[in-house]
Amino acid sequence: MEKYDEVLRMARALIEGEPEDVPNMANLSALVFETLADVNWAGFYTVTAAGGLLLGPFQGKPACIRIARGKGVCGTALETGKTQWVPDVHAFPGHIACDSASRSEVVAPVFRAGKVVAVLDVDSPVRDRFTADEVRFLEGIAGLFGENGKEA
Ligand code: SME
Repeated sequence: MEKYDEVLRMARALIEGEPEDVPNMANLSALVFETLADVNWAGFYTVTAAGGLLLGPFQGKPACIRIARGKGVCGTALETGKTQWVPDVHAFPGHIACDSASRSEVVAPVFRAGKVVAVLDVDSPVRDRFTADEVRFLEGIAGLFGENGKEA
């Protein structure tokens, strides 16, 4: 976990003092993508005024632009406000395969003022890729971004 604590400190330093969300999501997704091995997609979806998800800054292959609330792993994280830790996406009902190589996935909600305003989605081509420490790390990244924004 020490390694991830260090990366969380780097993440804080990266976004501190910058209130604009787009560059912060861009840098955080790049940091996550560089930090975790065997990851094929890392990025954000933001919540629209209509209540769905819209593709934000990411690293990886081009992805689905809009995801409805309650749909797929991301829409489930939005609807439940709970991190989705999916060891095998093929076993997740309604999983949306943006990159057919993806086998496991973690989606952490981003909260501002008690509401989900975005989700952080990370995919791996390896089944059961993510450890509990890594899930906590990703929740930490989502938490930093949530605390930092201009709407916070
Ligand atoms: N697999 C996600 C869709 C987003 S892509 O993986 C980038 C889902 O089921 O919500």
